[in-house]
Amino acid sequence: MPVLAQQPALVGDPAEAHKKIAMCEGCHGIPGYRTAYPEVYHVPKLGGQGEAYIANALHAYKAGQRKHPSMRGIAASLSDKDIADLAAYYARGHK
Ligand code: HEC
Repeated sequence: MPVLAQQPALVGDPAEAHKKIAMCEGCHGIPGYRTAYPEVYHVPKLGGQGEAYIANALHAYKAGQRKHPSMRGIAASLSDKDIADLAAYYARGHK
């Protein structure tokens, strides 16, 4: 597995992520990956994407490099350890 140069000490723990995914499931756990309210928009599938890809996406939302308002708000509340755990969890193929 490639080591992230910026954070070599952080190893994601999928078991830890179980305590955190409740705040993701409302949007990302939806069959068809769409939310219906307040407006219908596409929500990307997370399961099976690369661990580094998911972590990088969350860091990009947190840093404001990605602009989606819902995800920026969510990512801003996550620590680097939270992001590592969540990336490890979703990269192992959960929805
Ligand atoms: C309010 C609904 C909502 C919640 C809650 C939510 N997301 Fe998202 N998420 C989205 C939407 C919508 C997008 C697509 C945003 C865009 O187009 O940039 C997205 C995008 C992402 C992406 C990028 C996917 C890609 O293919 O580039 C990741 C990774 C992600 N979310 C992880 C999470 C995690 C982890 C949580 C829980 C901590 C979470 N999201 C909570 C709605 C949500």
